[in-house]
Amino acid sequence: TPKIIRTIVELRQAIAEFRKLSEDNRSVGFVPTMGYLHEGHASLLRQSASDNGLTVLSIFVNPLQFGPNEDLDKYPRDEERDIKVAATAGTNIIFIPALSEMYPNQALTHISVSEITERLCGASRPGHFDGVAIVVTKLFNIVQPDRAYFGLKDAQQLAVISQMTQDLNIPVEIVPCPILREEDGLALSSRNVYLDEDQRSQALILSQSLSASTDWIQAGISASELIAKLKAEISKAPLAKIDYVDVLTYPNLSQLNKDRPLNENNNDLLIAVAVYFGKTRLIDNRLLNPV
Ligand code: PAJ
Repeated sequence: TPKIIRTIVELRQAIAEFRKLSEDNRSVGFVPTMGYLHEGHASLLRQSASDNGLTVLSIFVNPLQFGPNEDLDKYPRDEERDIKVAATAGTNIIFIPALSEMYPNQALTHISVSEITERLCGASRPGHFDGVAIVVTKLFNIVQPDRAYFGLKDAQQLAVISQMTQDLNIPVEIVPCPILREEDGLALSSRNVYLDEDQRSQALILSQSLSASTDWIQAGISASELIAKLKAEISKAPLAKIDYVDVLTYPNLSQLNKDRPLNENNNDLLIAVAVYFGKTRLIDNRLLNPV
């Protein structure tokens, strides 16, 4: 069973001990999360456990990345269940710091990644990626992992963390992991528990319309046509309220020529959507290699 650690001092001791004692495969893998673990999180943990001698999971609901009207107070939590899920996925250490452990004083240092954060969730959630950047940097400095695992479910977050890691020379390898989905296609998310039955069934429109995009692109449509088609498709679900629909280059997240056929472009493409069902905001995306 994994060791539960709540303080930075004890975590550093445990990791130092591991690095000193283990003969081979001393590498440390790290999976940062906000808890309420599902199979998507578990897949990151399993990947880390297969790549590294030690796998560290962190569970911390980071207030700095939530806006004033977001779901910080009702973000789902279940520590006991998380420990069980983490154990079966091969986790060695679970770091569960209190708020006062992570932020004993008001931080005066800010980390802000420009350009990549201008669109998608960066535009809809002002300050969100600054909050992610500061907590991930702190966690990297606390754990000092060799590798850190991030899901493509949050493709923009992955791009932001990769850029920041390069820009700041943080000695960690960022490992991207594929999106895990329910059998019917809905991307796994801790927030899916908020959905009622109707919202849950209508939420399928996200993965379905993203899948259809591949064919539309092959048929030669442009960025503006793709966005319009996706919006029309998603709007067929009466409970869906679109936050954004966009197609950008990946990982730079820069805009494409709106009128040129997408299949003539030679960047990787990210098609990303954020849609409200009631108060629940779901995101999904598809990463396409150049055709
Ligand atoms: P959280 O939403 O808990 O997600 C933790 C990690 O799990 C992220 O890397 C996310 O991309 C990945 N993940 C979530 N759903 C997934 C799915 N269906 N398939 C594959 N991976 C999935 O992302 C955060 O927490 C926070 O912003 C954090 C990085 C911990 C900073 O606070």
